[in-house]
Amino acid sequence: MKFYIIAFLIFTSFGVDIDKNTFSNYREVKMQHLHIEWLLNLRSKIIDGSAEYTFKVTTAELKEVHLDIYQMEIKYAYYPNVGKVLDWHVESDPKQSLVQGDKLIIKLGQSYKYGDIFQLRIKYQIGEAARALSFMSIEQTDDKKAPYLFSQCEANNCRSMIPLQDTPSIKFTYSATVLTQDSQINVFMSGLPVKNNKFALMEQYNMNGIAKIFQFELNIKIPAYLIAIVAGTVQEKATSQRTSVISEAKNIDIYQKELEDLDKYVKYLEDYIGEYKWGFYKIVILPASFPFGGMENPLLTFANPSIIVGDKSGVSVAIHEIAHSWFGNTVTCNNWSNMWINEGFCVFLERKGLLQLFGEIDYVYVNSQVGTKEMNALIKEFNSSTDPVVKSYASLHPITEDHNADDSFSTIPYERGYQLLFYLESVISEIKFQQLLKDWLRQNEYQSADENDFYNFMIVWIKSNFTIEQFLAIKQQIDTVYTKWIYDTGSPPVKLGFINDASIQATDLAEDWLSSRPGEQPQGFEIFNQFKSNQKQLFLSYMQEKYTNLNTITMKQLDLSYNLSDNKDAELLFRWYTLSIQTKYATTNTNLNKIRTFVGKIGRMKMINPIYKALDKNTAQTWYNENKNFYHPLARQSIENIIKSKSQYVNVELL
Ligand code: BES
Ligand code: ZN
Repeated sequence: MKFYIIAFLIFTSFGVDIDKNTFSNYREVKMQHLHIEWLLNLRSKIIDGSAEYTFKVTTAELKEVHLDIYQMEIKYAYYPNVGKVLDWHVESDPKQSLVQGDKLIIKLGQSYKYGDIFQLRIKYQIGEAARALSFMSIEQTDDKKAPYLFSQCEANNCRSMIPLQDTPSIKFTYSATVLTQDSQINVFMSGLPVKNNKFALMEQYNMNGIAKIFQFELNIKIPAYLIAIVAGTVQEKATSQRTSVISEAKNIDIYQKELEDLDKYVKYLEDYIGEYKWGFYKIVILPASFPFGGMENPLLTFANPSIIVGDKSGVSVAIHEIAHSWFGNTVTCNNWSNMWINEGFCVFLERKGLLQLFGEIDYVYVNSQVGTKEMNALIKEFNSSTDPVVKSYASLHPITEDHNADDSFSTIPYERGYQLLFYLESVISEIKFQQLLKDWLRQNEYQSADENDFYNFMIVWIKSNFTIEQFLAIKQQIDTVYTKWIYDTGSPPVKLGFINDASIQATDLAEDWLSSRPGEQPQGFEIFNQFKSNQKQLFLSYMQEKYTNLNTITMKQLDLSYNLSDNKDAELLFRWYTLSIQTKYATTNTNLNKIRTFVGKIGRMKMINPIYKALDKNTAQTWYNENKNFYHPLARQSIENIIKSKSQYVNVELL
């Protein structure tokens, strides 16, 4: 008997990818439901919070609950029904405290058995040290009427706003009560708004100071990183029965117009993958300091205003976030080393949607090629590192242990993951692969999975959908590449170029400029103005690859020909500005000031990090100091790291 139990334990834990970025004992006890209650004091940038947990025991004997926390003040823990106060303490490793946070240990005062369900409450307070939260002052808002708050929990930042099991392998339903002290402030969370008083208050408040109470719930299980909140003078405008846009008043009409086809985008994806099961789809256009292009909070995508270009060229970000409703939010990676289970699959579905939007596969492949270029450059950079951790970032399975999982974040899980799926599709055919993905979703609905789960699923699927001869041939083909694609840090084992007429137009024009005589425009240079945004991006990204062949005279000619320094499309601007610094064009032209303004107006890391990387240390430090207050805590952290890693003397100083 003992042997069988041991054998069972060995077999079940073997191959199970454990989340190394949580301090919680999530394999012994699992959160089933979370209810939070927050009193927002946005003027003093403080939130009084309470959390109630419903836990289910999954071990033989449980005496303690361990939760993730980051820079918060725990007041007390207690059993809600009897009010019994529990002993707790924080176990803190000084090396980890500001990296991944600390472990909160709650002694249960009794032992629970396998299958037991119990509830627990914690009262706590958070403030500006909460790295998920951006507290903005009135002056920093568009409407200038009230302070503003928004969250960004992915990857491991939820633990800075709620003590919990901060791992994508634990999914739970949640509900919330949010109390505000300013009647102008409106609150939205990643769930459904419910009528006031559905949930009784857990704490007592002086009701004179309370202006409004908002309540939300989400009855679909989600991981912690999908909890989200926005509070400010924000309002909602519908774009269809099930879709809407939320933002401050100032630009809401512009946003509503640009995103008027949201419903259509949801339908494009439903066409490929099946019904959208979350109900509403709302998109919040946040202040420009939002550190990402978009974030797929369920029912409530967050987006940076840089996606609103005026010609709808930025809506692919919205399509990407909608695609997460299936890949990421329905099937989720079970730890951050296999994030491609979210992002790679999501990009694959996004590009199925883009095919319907663009109408021609060529234009979709332009995106794939821009992505591939960025991926190749990164693989080269990471793979040449002597640090095994950094080296692993070139693979689809980065090492995240002891690190902030965000450190491994790059375009690699997106593009290397997309390419793997693209290749697998080419092996088993488009029709079959579409069915395989639908079945993968159904089988793993509201659960978490990793690359081994996908491999095992795929092999079984192929076996039952092909003849045995076909199966054996396909399996062999897949086995030749799968592990390499995931774990190798060099280029993927199959080279995919995505070259086509639309991309050749862009790269040929770039070549013509690179070989043009200084001061001269190549023949037919005007074609650029007819390019789609993604062709222009490819043009610039091709130039970036070969920037050493560009001189400042040609740069100036490019700028005059295409009005690049004053472009409205931030996807083009950040590439052009980075190129301007790399080629030293920025030193000889007033566009240095334009770049300086740009990094003060936009806080999206993808767009400002490359600029900070290209700058010399002193200029980077000066510009960063100017804008530190504007940036989100996550952006601050990453720019500080960029500056720290610069040597003082490499580049010519600009200022
Ligand atoms: N989930 C990501 C954003 C993210 C990733 C936040 C990792 C924190 C940690 C989101 O879906 C995303 O990929 N956004 C992209 C948009 C894109 C690829 C179209 C972005 O922000 O640029
Ligand atoms: Zn994504």
